[in-house]
Amino acid sequence: MPGTSIIGLQWGDEAKGKLVDLLTPQFDLVVRYQGGANAGHTVVIGDQVFKLHHVPSGILHPQVMNLVTPGVVVSPPILLGEIDGLIDRGIEVGENMILSERAHAVLPWHMAEDRAMNSTSVQGESIGTTLRGIGPCYRDKVGRTYAVRLGDMVRDDFAERVATIVEAKRDVLKSLGSDEVLDVAAIVAEYSGYAERLRPFIGDTTDYLLDALDDGKQALFEGAQGALLDIDHGTFPFVTSSNSSGVGVCSGSGAPAKWIRNVIGVIKTYSTRVGGGPFPTELEDETGERIRQVGKEFGTTTGRPRRCGWFDAVAVRYTARLSGVDALSAMMLDVLSELPELKICVAYEIGGQRVERFPCQVDELRDATPIYETLPGWKEDITGVRDMADLPANAQAYLARISELVGVPVEIVSVGPDREQTMFRQSKEQLLAV
Ligand code: GDP
Ligand code: IMO
Ligand code: MG
Repeated sequence: MPGTSIIGLQWGDEAKGKLVDLLTPQFDLVVRYQGGANAGHTVVIGDQVFKLHHVPSGILHPQVMNLVTPGVVVSPPILLGEIDGLIDRGIEVGENMILSERAHAVLPWHMAEDRAMNSTSVQGESIGTTLRGIGPCYRDKVGRTYAVRLGDMVRDDFAERVATIVEAKRDVLKSLGSDEVLDVAAIVAEYSGYAERLRPFIGDTTDYLLDALDDGKQALFEGAQGALLDIDHGTFPFVTSSNSSGVGVCSGSGAPAKWIRNVIGVIKTYSTRVGGGPFPTELEDETGERIRQVGKEFGTTTGRPRRCGWFDAVAVRYTARLSGVDALSAMMLDVLSELPELKICVAYEIGGQRVERFPCQVDELRDATPIYETLPGWKEDITGVRDMADLPANAQAYLARISELVGVPVEIVSVGPDREQTMFRQSKEQLLAV
């Protein structure tokens, strides 16, 4: 198992952070390879709650190396806030973390652009981003001319570079109707300070990762967002700006595909989505509200209420195939307890036709009426169950049907936020031995 990846198979917030933390002791390194501060990964240990945005969720295990690789976009003040917060709580963050000098920096104009464009409607709806400057930063990365990488922030010509870019960005912001002011001297002073603090962490993660894999080390790749938010394969344009499905692991980290031997797909046993975009199984009723309250479905990064709905097996079958998933980790099963019945979307009806393929176009998805299969619920509190065989028969049947529809075995089940509230069908060693 040189490389194992953890991929969210829905629209994010599948509890990837919890799973990464749990599996980290089996690995030598944990790698964050795409996304940025739009991610909010929660790790709960007893009464301590850690919310991580850039720092890999392996950081709570001191013996492990944490890499933030070229595909990530780094927001310096947010990352420094995370590092300080962890150190204040007694967590070691030092030589156990390397930030790629190739990773791009999110700068104040990116946040200003994100704010300026947030209310712009695209295909009739606003994307509803996290306002962390993610899209504008990736746009500049691809555009190259105005991009700044972490390595550039610690170079002598950083101030000059900021001055050139700000000149162009003032026009961009004006054209977007923004009246935000960019002050070159203030930005240079503030961000040079951040750069100095980040300097000891900045290095060549690609070289480190390739050496580690060649030396037989084990790497856990921590996906951010979910596969339905993938820029190329998700519900475009209501997506994020990176490859958040399994296909992004290699490009974002620099690890060749031959090393990724094991892919664990993380699912909620229902669906959620934050922001705009089609969501065929959305429940805008009491059941949806109940799932939101019981599941505490409010954004980790933005606090926004998450839209909630039934499990969509059409969407997850698609993302599991796209990401090459070998095993499913089914999270938040406890949230569904006490619902009298549960629905699973097994196909869509689009234009009078039964469709089992996930549509390419959002307008087709908007027109999709879910075709549901209804299964009986269970009344028992399952938060204390520690063996899959002890789950109520209806809960086992529900998971078995999800597994059958998606075409991948459920190997891990989570019934609460804590590390202990997790069950493995086989030992972690067996699960990861590929
Ligand atoms: P991520 O972005 O995929 O890491 O997920 P988030 O951290 O944004 O959201 C998952 C939330 O669910 C967090 O608040 C977790 O503490 C919580 N959580 C994780 N697993 C479970 C579970 O099995 N049951 C319940 N009720 N909550 C869970
Ligand atoms: P984790 O890693 C859920 C969503 C935003 C918006 C869209 C684009 O915690 O699962 P962006 O700021 O990326 O340009 O916003 O993507 N989004 C997420 N939703 N979980 C996330 O991350 C998300 N990161 C971005 O809500 O709809
Ligand atoms: Mg999250």
